[in-house]
Amino acid sequence: MSESMAQRRRVEGKVALVIGASGGIGEGIARDFAREGAYVALVANRNLQRAQKIAEEINYQYGLGRAIALKADVTNEEEVEEMVRKTVEAFGRIDIMVYSVGIVKAGSVKEMKLEDFEHVTKVNYTGYFLCVKHVARVMAEQHRRDPSHWMDIIQINSKSGLQGSYKNAAYAGSKFGGIGLTQSFALELLEDGIKVNAICPGNYFDGPLWSDPKEGLFVQYLRAGKVPGAKTIEDVRRYYESKVPIGRGCAIEDIMQAIYYVIEQKYETGQAIPVTGGQVMR
Ligand SMILES: NC(=O)c1ccc[n+]([C@@H]2O[C@H](COP(=O)([O-])OP(=O)(O)OC[C@H]3O[C@@H](n4cnc5c(N)ncnc54)[C@H](O)[C@@H]3O)[C@@H](O)[C@H]2O)c1
Repeated sequence: MSESMAQRRRVEGKVALVIGASGGIGEGIARDFAREGAYVALVANRNLQRAQKIAEEINYQYGLGRAIALKADVTNEEEVEEMVRKTVEAFGRIDIMVYSVGIVKAGSVKEMKLEDFEHVTKVNYTGYFLCVKHVARVMAEQHRRDPSHWMDIIQINSKSGLQGSYKNAAYAGSKFGGIGLTQSFALELLEDGIKVNAICPGNYFDGPLWSDPKEGLFVQYLRAGKVPGAKTIEDVRRYYESKVPIGRGCAIEDIMQAIYYVIEQKYETGQAIPVTGGQVMR
């Protein structure tokens, strides 16, 4: 690639830590960052092999040393610290952190088990706090050494962080809380040269979160009776597609547009940006 082409890449030479990158939206973000010139650490919890395979493919495509895969459970502070340490060991610094971890347990408030509610909260909300805590320390030190250097923390939130979600209180509550964290971290971390923003996608129907045949939301919502009259997974999918004014689910490209906006925009922080095909208007 010629130097002028390389200069056009949007995250050239930056180090990106993408947490929750063994599939779905995080995988898409990691691949796009690599294509746009970044070094990428892909973090997975259970499915490390899948993250390793994606890292290998990135290295094959863009050159050795461009990607690594790491294992960490975001609810375990020691593992989060280790994840940050290994990323810095591998690449020397962290310029972008994306928190693309999220789990859903749908169901009525009248039936939901406390342990399920607490697990969703721990992964979606507390895990975000732990990752920001340890990444922000590294970023703050980088800013201290070079005050002209600005960095980004980006939480992949959800339209359910902007608007309540029927029979999905644990998830929506954790996402609303995530916006509170994002706004508060944004205020505090300005002095450390860190912008903190949330992206709030609409439904990404093609990823495993929705389409996994055992655990996916289509199956969960069918079982939970969230869609009145729905008898099959296809009924549930059609119902959700019909609710999007633009008429389709969210794509990785749509999310990347918003991510590059917050990275390139120097005059904004603490925002929660909807990418919902017109489904949520603010
Ligand atoms: N898929 C959608 O329709 C949609 C819509 C809006 C927002 N989101 C949000 O986007 C983010 C990514 O979702 P996705 O669709 O890619 O889901 P996904 O299930 O495909 O990916 C979730 C990722 O989180 C990781 N993860 C789960 N628990 C973890 C833990 N304890 N420690 C470390 N990693 C853990 C998984 O390994 C996986 O890589 C989530 O925050 C989700 O809430 C998704």
